[in-house]
Amino acid sequence: MKCLLWLQAVAQLATAGTSTTQIPLREDESVSEFAIFQSDVSPDHSIRVKRQNSSLCDTPVDQYTGWLDVGHKHLFFWYFKSEAATKSSGSEPLALWLTGGPGGSSMLGMLQELGPCLINEHGNGTVYNPYGWNKETALVFVDQPAGVGFSYLDEGEPIPGDSFTSAADMHLFLQLFVSQVFPEHSEGPLVITGESYAGHYLPALGAQIVSQNNIYPKRPQVPLKSVAIGNGYVSPLDTAFGYWETLCTTNPGVKEPVFNKTRCEIMATNLPRCLEVAKVCYDHPDPAICAAASTVCMTGVINFYDGESYAGGRNRFDITAPCDIDNFCYANTQLLQDYLNLESSFSALSIPKEIKNFTAGSDTVSQAFELTNDLAISMIPQVQYLLASQIDVLIYQGNLDLACNTAGAKRWTANMPWKGQAAFTSLTLKPWKSEKDGKEVVAGMFKEVNVKMVDGDEKTTRFALVTIDGSGHMVPQDQPEVALDMLNRWLKGKSFD
Ligand SMILES: *[C@@H]1O[C@H](CO)[C@@H](O)[C@H](O)[C@H]1NC(C)=O
Ligand SMILES: *[C@@H]1O[C@H](CO)[C@@H](O)[C@H](O)[C@H]1NC(C)=O
Ligand SMILES: *[C@@H]1O[C@H](CO)[C@@H](O)[C@H](O)[C@H]1NC(C)=O
Ligand SMILES: *[C@@H]1O[C@H](CO)[C@@H](O)[C@H](O)[C@H]1NC(C)=O
Repeated sequence: MKCLLWLQAVAQLATAGTSTTQIPLREDESVSEFAIFQSDVSPDHSIRVKRQNSSLCDTPVDQYTGWLDVGHKHLFFWYFKSEAATKSSGSEPLALWLTGGPGGSSMLGMLQELGPCLINEHGNGTVYNPYGWNKETALVFVDQPAGVGFSYLDEGEPIPGDSFTSAADMHLFLQLFVSQVFPEHSEGPLVITGESYAGHYLPALGAQIVSQNNIYPKRPQVPLKSVAIGNGYVSPLDTAFGYWETLCTTNPGVKEPVFNKTRCEIMATNLPRCLEVAKVCYDHPDPAICAAASTVCMTGVINFYDGESYAGGRNRFDITAPCDIDNFCYANTQLLQDYLNLESSFSALSIPKEIKNFTAGSDTVSQAFELTNDLAISMIPQVQYLLASQIDVLIYQGNLDLACNTAGAKRWTANMPWKGQAAFTSLTLKPWKSEKDGKEVVAGMFKEVNVKMVDGDEKTTRFALVTIDGSGHMVPQDQPEVALDMLNRWLKGKSFD
């Protein structure tokens, strides 16, 4: 290991519970704040990391922030130890969280949904989150691709515009992170999770990890065990299909359908053509064909609702909730932007001068993705590849979401060809139980299969679909207690039965 500065010393101080005041001071402060880890594999990439404390994010666990520098790209991360972290130096599970977009900052997931701390009601500090996802696993949030949130590019460099470029950079991040910076994670298990457009990012990243591990067995391996996708945009065609069921039936768990008969008739009439052209895009992913398909589905199906989603209008992420601010709909997003933009936050994080302002969603990055085919393609082939490679896959869904709806997830998970398909589709969804405020409740529905994927190998691979009632797009925000229970069951390999 090449530790150019002093992180090991800091880590030892941290476990001993002493303060960081013994850190050697350097004349050039901007250098001395960070420990730098130069990759053993590539001269082009390194990680700089700095310890943070509870005044920035209110949690008792150790926390670190920093950047992966890979060539001209700089990816920001925020890393937390688990509350259950053992004193021993044994291996420790790690979870990666990616918010979607494209262009969404993972700070949104962290401060609004599942982080160890959440934004407070004034947008000037944080509060401890009793349902933070770092109870039993360490947790790292990454702003990606470069250009999102606190991640940045050197001037004049091109913005990454698709999930595969993002995946290549994220693989380099994880490889260096688990092998050299926090080697207690080198044996895993690692779960990669996230939400929304992460239904594109995570299958691409999982596939990149598996293939790089296979191609370069002598290089540091990324110990991927499972992928957990929350309200994911995995198959755009199926998401469009699900608009009708979500808006025109009571299946999401509403008393009355959201739309009246007139609108539902129009959508039903337009839906077959949308599906037909979306399928042509899947089969022939030419940008012109896919752009045409998107237009047909937008105008014929999606825009009746999405076109009315803005501050004061409808909420695409929860068909029962109001929309308080444009785009994100939730006022907390504005508050966390306010908080991260405070001078005290910039100073604690040592934000470089390249970053003038923190924004939860990058228009530049989302536009870059729109110029490629990334938004229209299906990531089902990558999910198939992961299952074939014995990586467990969890698809979890808040039922009140429209943007990445449960109806669409049910459809693609049923139609995806793989060895477990017949067993999976033969099962009906069953209720699963969890606890809320000390009472047992039906949390939603589930089905799961465990399938031997490799001849002569007894190991089984798990594929599960889990739904959450009374939750929109952001499950840990809407049902925090149930969401944490779901995560912990998944991490421990416990059934949802
Ligand atoms: C945050 O804002 C509230 C309301 O203005 C104020 O009472 C509180 O002292 C502020 N907290 C900090 C840490 O600035
Ligand atoms: C159905 O809903 C649309 C949109 O809210 C509205 O413009 C229309 O008048 C409604 N039609 C009927 C018959 O209620
Ligand atoms: C936390 O770190 C900041 C510098 O980022 C420092 O000003 C503050 O005193 C520290 N707080 C505690 C409780 O150690
Ligand atoms: C910084 O970004 C936030 C969120 O996009 C925005 O509301 C604010 O106006 C920006 N501030 C500056 C100085 O650009």
